[in-house]
Amino acid sequence: MTVKLKVWVSRPLFPEVLARLAEYVDVQAEAVERPHSAAELKEKLAGVDGAIVALSDRVDASVLEGNRRLKVLANLGVGYNNLDVEALTRAGVLASNTPEVLNESVADYAWALMLAAARRVGAAERWLRAGQWAGSRMRFDDWLGLDVHGRTLGILGMGRIGQAIARRAAGFDMRVLYHNRSRLPEPVERECRATLVGKPELLRQADFLVLVLPFTPENRHAIGAAELAQMKRTAVLVNIARGGIVDDAALAEALRDGRLAAAGLDVFEGEPVVHPDLLLLDNVVLSPHIASASEDTRRGMANIAVDNVLAALGYGEAAGKPPTPLNPAVMNRWKAPKA
Ligand code: GLV
Repeated sequence: MTVKLKVWVSRPLFPEVLARLAEYVDVQAEAVERPHSAAELKEKLAGVDGAIVALSDRVDASVLEGNRRLKVLANLGVGYNNLDVEALTRAGVLASNTPEVLNESVADYAWALMLAAARRVGAAERWLRAGQWAGSRMRFDDWLGLDVHGRTLGILGMGRIGQAIARRAAGFDMRVLYHNRSRLPEPVERECRATLVGKPELLRQADFLVLVLPFTPENRHAIGAAELAQMKRTAVLVNIARGGIVDDAALAEALRDGRLAAAGLDVFEGEPVVHPDLLLLDNVVLSPHIASASEDTRRGMANIAVDNVLAALGYGEAAGKPPTPLNPAVMNRWKAPKA
């Protein structure tokens, strides 16, 4: 009897996706969603051949120390700042993420936050639900928000998600400016109707500034007090990238003092804890890191994680060819995968 390889899944996942994994390997899936300490991760990862983890699981050199067994670690997310990829590479572990599948859903959500923040959807709903409409003598000039159409959209970080956000702007007749490490190829710029500008100009010109940067040490507080001070008082800031890219304390101050009109935030420094000053403000729309959370996309992400694990462990049609590896060279150091 052959002993099945073991895969740990750090959180509950769609049953049919887990069932697909279980056709090949022994699956140990956590039944409850909760963060795991470094010590727990170390212990869990030491006893398995593969693992599926997510943003709240921080896998670094200390977690991998002494691990001789783990072969593949699939991250449920396109961003992977929770992983020390160099340490994984040194440990001979293939890491993967879930790019592309979520681009359009995250772009939809960026627009949801832009529109909701500009038109005060959250605050208006809270007011209505609190029973304040009836008998309020709501005035014709109450609840005035900002128009989105015809304004200038600024995108900081113009990868695939940024481009998907830009393409949607055509329907709103917006001018699109972007800032990125490198200029997009001209046909892509044309398709997105987007113009490259420097960061200071982007900050000065944007009526809506959407952040789609990866979280790296250089991008920490890419939008802080100094950057906020350069923005229009009528501007709206949207962060769907990562907490920590924005200095949340400085943002709360700017929103409170009327130096920025509104914000839409899906990610937070120190999430799931949200800066208490943000919670006090009505001109910010807050959501619990759900930009990719559509039915189809979250299933798609889970399936890609499973595809990476199975392929890396040598199972299925794509055996030996994980679809979205972060450090594929690691596989050259393995013995030939099981056919
Ligand atoms: C979500 O935040 C992701 O990185 O996919």
